[in-house]
Amino acid sequence: MFVASIKKRVLEYAEMDTVALKSLRGSTDILTFFTNFRMALNNGLIRAAEPASESPTGWRVNLWVKQGILANIRLGELAEERVELGEFGSFLFIDKDTMPTKWIVTSDNVRIVPGGSSVRDGVYLAPGVVVMPPVYVNVGAYVDESTMIDSHALVGSCAQVGKKCHLSAGVQVGGVLEPIGAMPVIIEDEVMVGGNCGIYEGTIIKEKAVIGTGVILNGSTPVYDLVRNTIYRKSDDAPLIIPSGAVVVAGSRPIKGPYAKKYGLQMYTPIIIKYRDDKTDKAVTLEDALR
Ligand SMILES: CC(C)(COP(=O)(O)OP(=O)(O)OC[C@H]1O[C@@H](n2cnc3c(N)ncnc32)[C@H](O)[C@@H]1OP(=O)(O)O)[C@@H](O)C(=O)NCCC(=O)NCCS
Repeated sequence: MFVASIKKRVLEYAEMDTVALKSLRGSTDILTFFTNFRMALNNGLIRAAEPASESPTGWRVNLWVKQGILANIRLGELAEERVELGEFGSFLFIDKDTMPTKWIVTSDNVRIVPGGSSVRDGVYLAPGVVVMPPVYVNVGAYVDESTMIDSHALVGSCAQVGKKCHLSAGVQVGGVLEPIGAMPVIIEDEVMVGGNCGIYEGTIIKEKAVIGTGVILNGSTPVYDLVRNTIYRKSDDAPLIIPSGAVVVAGSRPIKGPYAKKYGLQMYTPIIIKYRDDKTDKAVTLEDALR
């Protein structure tokens, strides 16, 4: 019921143009509403996508949540915020006043290791999440229990990351805010994403898959499965889906056409080289001591 009432108001605001929306700032009610909207995201009460057994992808995307985030941004006015650093002075940042950083307390049982990370308000971080510096977690993201987000990683807006995942150093998980129509990336439980991978454009990675170092997945990358002799790709009605337990590595394939043939040109392509086995488990075992 509570969620239904948030959704109803979000959809009303989403339809308004920015001038009309901002004209409501005079009443404190709209600012309070969006503070509560972000709080519901912080608590994981509302999500940009959620598990749905009836859906062929296993997920239902709640587009209205993205619409709410966009309305929240449009409502904002630029404001300066100074963070006091005691004897070290202070530093200044400037952003929309409806886009503060997330307030995290020790009882959340989340570790934000010092060194300079930023987590926006409207992000759910479950107990046991570890954020190594520097990391950026954008609004609407949902990161479940005991997941490690390693240095230089980006968790883009509305990305959904499951339990006991490892997002290795340099991983870039794309967001939904731009371009228009972008869908949330979904990474299910116990997925290992190797260093410097990029996961974009609504790609769904099913549980326990392993994405090898440097793999890039987006809506235009067909994925060749050498075990099941099939090709996975995004269609008009479904995103790219990496099957459960797949081990994906960065490969290459010949480019079509006589010119490419003449010069032996290849292009990058992700390949499922195998499905997870004991050797893979050994290679990607998480270290409990770090959690
Ligand atoms: C995918 C990964 C876990 C290896 O899995 P594995 O189950 O141990 O794989 P195997 O060693 O059995 O390899 C199977 C085949 O794939 C090849 N292969 C494995 N990983 C590969 C990779 N990343 N790129 C290209 N080929 C790879 C192997 O050479 C082997 O081929 P071969 O049989 O012809 O020799 C590993 O390559 C990887 O990417 N680990 C992530 C490391 C990382 O980024 N850590 C981040 C820390 S911050």
